[in-house]
Amino acid sequence: IKRITTHILQEMKDRGEKISMLTAYDYSMAKIVDAAGIDIVLVGDSASNVMAGHETTLPITLDQMIYHASAVVRAVKRSFIVVDIPFGNYQGNSSEALRSAIRIMKESGAHAVKVEGGAEIKESVIRILSAGVPVMGHLGLTPQSIYKFGTYTVRAKEEAEAAKLIEDAKILEQCGCFAIVLEKIPASLAKKVAETVNIPVIGIGAGGGVDGQVLVMHDMLGITQEFKPRFLRQYADLQKIMTDAFTEYIRDVKSQDFPNESESY
Ligand code: KIV
Ligand code: NA
Repeated sequence: IKRITTHILQEMKDRGEKISMLTAYDYSMAKIVDAAGIDIVLVGDSASNVMAGHETTLPITLDQMIYHASAVVRAVKRSFIVVDIPFGNYQGNSSEALRSAIRIMKESGAHAVKVEGGAEIKESVIRILSAGVPVMGHLGLTPQSIYKFGTYTVRAKEEAEAAKLIEDAKILEQCGCFAIVLEKIPASLAKKVAETVNIPVIGIGAGGGVDGQVLVMHDMLGITQEFKPRFLRQYADLQKIMTDAFTEYIRDVKSQDFPNESESY
């Protein structure tokens, strides 16, 4: 199997093939999504919500991200694996950022890191890239800054914030980022960013005018049911499928239908 690389992702943008990306946090799910042919697996800090039940992405630690990432790395044969550097492990200064990126690369075996922000984290991005670690940017709604925004509503609807976002995208490209995620911004602005920068722009709630799409796996599978933003397309109702399976199992145990003769030694 030919591995996806940053070079291949760039070629996809150049010839207009859309890039597919989903999150994964564990071995079993990562194995399935990789075998299905996903281009990028993101070990997102959304693990903080989805895996650990926190309200925000802020509490997850670098050690916990490395734990999730190493499980994903053991499963994936083809996809390009990107890992979020969690809140508090890169904003301080560029050497802290580099140290965090190196720990992720060495201890998990992933292929790249993702960080939230533009101009504010420029030095950190440059420092990580100078060590040979590919960096994916993330602009628009950046969940690590949720307490600054106050809400998870659409970002960059106003002119000033839109202009800063375009500037930040240009900065990230100039620094050498291989791709940028745009989260929850107007489709017209996202399209403009994708046309402005040469590197792949991957959207979530950013419309169809970008170079690829990303969703949180558990949301698109319908495992998480509370979270139903407009941008989310639900591809399965795993909550129902799982509940039915669990209910049937419980019934069979209670009724002594399970295990039967052929299921016993
Ligand atoms: O952590 C995450 O899942 C993400 C995606 C939503 C882009 O950052
Ligand atoms: Na994230």
